[in-house]
Amino acid sequence: MARNKNTKAGRPANRLWGGRFAAGPAEAMERINASIGFDRRLAAQDIATSRAHCRMLMAQKIIPVKDGRAILKGLDVIAKEIESGRFKFRVALEDIHMNVEARLIALIGDAGGRLHTARSRNDQVATDFRLWVRDAIDGLDDALARLQGALIARAEQHAATLMPGFTHLQTAQPVTLGHHLLAYVEMFGRDRGRLGDARARLNECPLGAAALAGTSFPIDRRATAKALGFDKPMANSLDAVSDRDFALEFLSAAAMAASHLSRLAEELVLWSSERFGFVRLSDAFTTGSSMMPQKRNPDGAELVRAKAGRVVGALIALTVVMKGLPLAYAKDLQEDKEPVFEAADTLALALEVMCGMIADMTVAEDAMKAAADGAYATATDLADWLVREAGLTFRAAHGVSGQIVRLAESKGVRLDEVGLAEMRKIEPRITKAVFGVLGAERSAASRTSLGGTAPRRVRAAVRQARKRFL
Ligand code: ARG
Repeated sequence: MARNKNTKAGRPANRLWGGRFAAGPAEAMERINASIGFDRRLAAQDIATSRAHCRMLMAQKIIPVKDGRAILKGLDVIAKEIESGRFKFRVALEDIHMNVEARLIALIGDAGGRLHTARSRNDQVATDFRLWVRDAIDGLDDALARLQGALIARAEQHAATLMPGFTHLQTAQPVTLGHHLLAYVEMFGRDRGRLGDARARLNECPLGAAALAGTSFPIDRRATAKALGFDKPMANSLDAVSDRDFALEFLSAAAMAASHLSRLAEELVLWSSERFGFVRLSDAFTTGSSMMPQKRNPDGAELVRAKAGRVVGALIALTVVMKGLPLAYAKDLQEDKEPVFEAADTLALALEVMCGMIADMTVAEDAMKAAADGAYATATDLADWLVREAGLTFRAAHGVSGQIVRLAESKGVRLDEVGLAEMRKIEPRITKAVFGVLGAERSAASRTSLGGTAPRRVRAAVRQARKRFL
């Protein structure tokens, strides 16, 4: 029988758990099993968790104070080695937890072997990962606030800049650019709210759940929870080591934010096209074509639009990993990290690029205004005027306005270029006062209802947004 060529006779069993093993893992097994390639990103959290655990073990007299001190010193050394890039991460030691522990034992000897008392990698990794996600949420919240700040600044600048508002991407009614940008400020505000909700729920500490059932040592879970900035220990040890709903909540909030970014990016792609010509993106966020010298491509916006795919993909990936896992820990859970890292990195990058594009873009106010004045964007204003000034029902006014639009269209003129006499042939109650509402500027200025697009509303909304979000 052919010997499994992957099993190296000489490969030793893992030093930290290999007591009952006669032989080491196959090379492919080592590769599929090791997470050190990515979970090294948990190093700072892992050391923080170990410090808190060690201090608690000392305080509870579970380990001798002398050994505890040596452990803390050793952890300091390891933290410095990691920060300075001198730490040697070893695949054979599988993950960050065993890399740190093995190094600790190498540094301080047997005392290092006491750190893992009343602890398992299962509660350790769950704790580390919650800490990591918590930090990621805080970083993304800052980045979202920066983007809101950039949008609010542009909204203030363009509180009265007219543009067509669209439905079905067809010109609908004039709006102000400031109002349009503030719509995204609201969306990103809710994204921050969702991240904040996820943060509040994740802020309970798994440490002390041990492998799954708790421990017979007299640990103090409240102390470790507090030391690590958690609100309290998680109530159930099985739940503590086996659920990753906090990561899924994070990913779904991230996916939603990425999709908002993607919509805004799509608008920048459209607006910067020469068909629209509403904005010009800066050199810093565009690229040229290797063949067509005239091109200025909105690659930054296109990539932000596309990156949503990765973030949504991460949410799907982890959702599928989690579904159907029996309690408690299973190694499947090791697959929780890469999607979360990827989503957090991707979203952070997309936010930074979007922030730069918004701050840098040049707005073609004339082109926006011309578009708002064209395409019969004030047909609703005409209908509203007929209701207000001539006493028509809205439905009747809608019909009259529609007929006037058809007439203007057939003559190839704007609404305010149709003569009064011709309008009166369609509806005799029309007077020359109607011309007061046929321009985009008046139209937008008249929309003063709460949440509406009138420049004075937008200016007030800018002030409110600064208070609410920045
Ligand atoms: N690297 C592992 C993970 O990320 C740590 C926990 C391992 N626990 C175990 N029982 N094998 O999930």
